Amino acid sequence: KGCPHAFVYIMKPYVDFKYQAEFFDAKEWTHIFASSGEKYIYLTTKHHEGFTLWGSENSWNLNAVDVGPKRDLVGEMAGANSDLRLGLYHSLFEWFNPLYEQDAANLYTTNLFPTTKTLPKLYEIINKYKPELLWSDGDGDAPDKYWNSTGFLAWLYNESPVRETVVTNDRWGYGSICTHGGYYTCDDRYQPGHLLKHKWENCFSIDKASWGNTRNAHLKDYFTIEQLVATLVETVSCGGNLLLNIGPTHNGRISPIFEERLRQMGQWLGVNGEAIYNNTTWRAQNDSMIPGIW
Ligand SMILES: *[C@@H]1O[C@H](CO)[C@@H](O)[C@H](O)[C@H]1NC(C)=O
Repeated sequence: KGCPHAFVYIMKPYVDFKYQAEFFDAKEWTHIFASSGEKYIYLTTKHHEGFTLWGSENSWNLNAVDVGPKRDLVGEMAGANSDLRLGLYHSLFEWFNPLYEQDAANLYTTNLFPTTKTLPKLYEIINKYKPELLWSDGDGDAPDKYWNSTGFLAWLYNESPVRETVVTNDRWGYGSICTHGGYYTCDDRYQPGHLLKHKWENCFSIDKASWGNTRNAHLKDYFTIEQLVATLVETVSCGGNLLLNIGPTHNGRISPIFEERLRQMGQWLGVNGEAIYNNTTWRAQNDSMIPGIW
């Protein structure tokens, strides 16, 4: 079930009352992503604030169909009909949800929040959008037992509509990161510097500081294409995939700076992709006298 060598994107909405996503065009997005040479994408369906980009039955008035865009943005991405494999990102915990706060105050001996919120939402996105990849995040330092992660994953791999193809990561409860999971993510911007035995992914962002959209950013706040290519090469050389995040604007656009970086990556891969895709790693890792030669 290994992923092909590739790189991917997590996208996060800019959530406030101005968030309308009025220019969001899933087809345009997938054209840009395809031109970058990527093989799969991740859409952030719900981040730690709890707003769902689909009309969740378990997130009343805090979802993109009831308020803001008034559209099913996850459905539009899933229906964009591209060759890219669809992945969904989902945060287990929600910063300010009173049910979560109550469970936390009870030291996770109660599980009101997972049973009434997290798990129903997870089942919803799997059954409705049938993603091939699922990126779990935000365990809130609560144990996997609290989240019933093993129960959910047993269902996902044995009974769910995507049981034959689905791939997951390693963020399923306190202590599971870098230890359990289909592939490891270990840390944000993780770069081990040597070959790992287990498949892994470097979640990286084109914006040097942020995973969201920085409205007052300057050019120097973004990595150059040379820096991004160096990151891709080192990651793939050590057996990892690169996940390259962009933060769209509140009106649903991919900023030209992100678009340019993605297209530049595609141009580089057009020449050098043979060394990146469906390849095997070199066992003599970085043994050169020259740094950056893999
Ligand atoms: C955990 O998930 C499994 C599989 O969906 C389910 O059968 C079980 O009842 C769940 N346990 C709790 C405590 O929610």
